[in-house]
Amino acid sequence: MLDVERSAVRQRSDLTFKHNKSLGRHGWLRLTPAYSVKLVKEIIAGAPTDVSILDPFSGTATTTLTAAEHGNVAVSFDINPFLIWLGNVKCRSYTAEYARQVKDGVAAAISRTPTFLTQENWRPPLFNIERWWSSTTLEVLSAFRTALVEQFGEPVENREDGLAWVAFCRLVIETSSAAFNHVSMSFSAETAHYEVEHVTNLYSVILESVLASCGSPLMGQGEVVEVDARTIPDMGRRFGLVVTSPPYPNRISYIRELRPYMYWMKFLEEAREAGEMDWKAIGGTWGIATSRLTTWGPNGHVLPNILTETVGRIASTDTKNAQLLATYVLKYFYDMHLHLSSLPNVLERGAQLHYIVGNSTFFGNVVDTPAILGESMRMLGYDDVGSKIIRKRNSNKALFEYDVTARWGG
Ligand SMILES: C[S@@+](CC[C@H](N)C(=O)[O-])C[C@H]1O[C@@H](n2cnc3c(N)ncnc32)[C@H](O)[C@@H]1O
Repeated sequence: MLDVERSAVRQRSDLTFKHNKSLGRHGWLRLTPAYSVKLVKEIIAGAPTDVSILDPFSGTATTTLTAAEHGNVAVSFDINPFLIWLGNVKCRSYTAEYARQVKDGVAAAISRTPTFLTQENWRPPLFNIERWWSSTTLEVLSAFRTALVEQFGEPVENREDGLAWVAFCRLVIETSSAAFNHVSMSFSAETAHYEVEHVTNLYSVILESVLASCGSPLMGQGEVVEVDARTIPDMGRRFGLVVTSPPYPNRISYIRELRPYMYWMKFLEEAREAGEMDWKAIGGTWGIATSRLTTWGPNGHVLPNILTETVGRIASTDTKNAQLLATYVLKYFYDMHLHLSSLPNVLERGAQLHYIVGNSTFFGNVVDTPAILGESMRMLGYDDVGSKIIRKRNSNKALFEYDVTARWGG
């Protein structure tokens, strides 16, 4: 695309997570790198309802839920246990009777909370927790959590039955000092003090809105399963359409973004685990995931020439972390190459692929994600590979989001 045409591309917040906020279940919890329901709807609009849809990078299950709402059967993969849990809670059909039971259970938990305030309750071992909540708020949240556990069990043990816990996740964020004004989370300078009544009233309002969004049954079906997208096995089923947004090569860590939820819900119990989880994540970059890069090297795959050239340019920059970040980029695309080489295990012949991805820059060197992924796809035997720009990402003139498309001819 010519530069003059690029300059006409707009940011389009309707094609980001911001669009999802008022869309029922899609707006339950916010994950900044989630993509827009509108984008997914446009892609699947023409697909017949008997096409099975796959999202190998589920995140908040936007694809799978949108597809199930459209009447399709959809499956998504992720490796993050919290996101797998959340996706499955989002994609379930709920009855009015179930909603009544949740409300009754919550009413019982709320009435018991003051008794728990007199004891020591479990708190998440989140680093610098006092930056997130004042000590008063923390005491109340912990007591209320103990009451919810008595009523519903720990979310990690009861992985499907989670509406009360989704509302709790929203509560912990809304009572915290975290703000989501940017791509990543930031903190306001002060933490507010919330007393027990304020917390339980706020929770009740959140729960009402969560339950209200479960009123109508889904026309199709959606499920999130734990699969590492780099090594997709033959699962005995195949998909005709892939709509997904993998991580971008931009050093955003999903574990880091999700840590308040993951700790409060006990999907993460210590910092070391976070680094291990991020090492499995494509583009993962937190803690040990970065230090391991210093000894990592690709293992026996012929990789796109344009990747080798890009990595060489980054490595030869006269900057302190040039080699480390060159390896980061190499590992990101190596992992995506592994993903694309195992994906045909679950594809129908003629399956159509849509990968929503962003480019990035390292020390002024552009990493042309659609070109590198496109070359991987061609090398691996995909047909009709192409891409188009769908939006500008922010005020940086070089950063765009693309829809990279291809077809699996088999
Ligand atoms: C950009 S997010 C997807 C956002 C999603 N489209 C949404 O709307 O919420 C990328 C997801 O890929 C997941 N992921 C990273 N590495 C993975 C791997 N090796 N296998 C499966 N999922 C992975 C991350 O945990 C994250 O949830």
